[in-house]
Amino acid sequence: MRAMRWLMVPILVSAMGGVAAAEWKNVQVLPKTMSKDELKALMKAQSKALGVECDYCHDVPDMASDKNEKKLIARKMMQMQNEINEKWIKGWKGADKAKVSCGTCHQGHEEPPKFTVQTGSDKPQTTTPEKK
Ligand code: HEC
Ligand code: HEC
Repeated sequence: MRAMRWLMVPILVSAMGGVAAAEWKNVQVLPKTMSKDELKALMKAQSKALGVECDYCHDVPDMASDKNEKKLIARKMMQMQNEINEKWIKGWKGADKAKVSCGTCHQGHEEPPKFTVQTGSDKPQTTTPEKK
């Protein structure tokens, strides 16, 4: 009986894997292999980072729909964020802790709060001038 129990472990594990692996209909940037739990946790965190609910981006209950333009913006933001982390931050000392997320900029708001350095001059120095 004890041997039988061990034989059943791999069968159980593969059966559970089959349940957990979700079939996403319209996932273009995130890994398609994300489990339901993983994706749900990420969506919740992302909503908190912007201080919104799911319906801010989704045409609920059709989560795969791209009708809502905020979802399209969010998809671009995901790509931007991935590029910042992969291309610019990766390899830095402490890069894992310094990873950029939605919250880094949004800080709980739909639009990232404005930050203006008080320079004393009348020109706020918040952006780096572009090379002409
Ligand atoms: C800030 C915008 C935004 C918010 C808020 C948001 N989502 Fe999403 N969600 C997206 C984007 C963008 C995608 C597509 C990602 C991709 O293409 O890789 C997506 C994909 C999904 C999918 C996959 C649908 C499919 O089959 O293609 C589900 C499910 C989902 N979200 C659930 C939720 C839930 C539940 C919430 C609330 C807790 C939520 N989302 C909040 C932007 C958002
Ligand atoms: C590097 C900073 C930065 C990061 C990281 C970032 N955003 Fe943004 N996001 C912005 C800026 C700047 C805007 C433009 C706000 C405006 O229109 O004034 C914006 C706008 C948006 C909007 C449109 C808001 C509106 O009012 O229409 C959505 C939706 C959004 N971001 C989602 C996300 C999501 C989801 C993530 C994480 C995957 C993310 N952003 C990560 C800077 C960022």
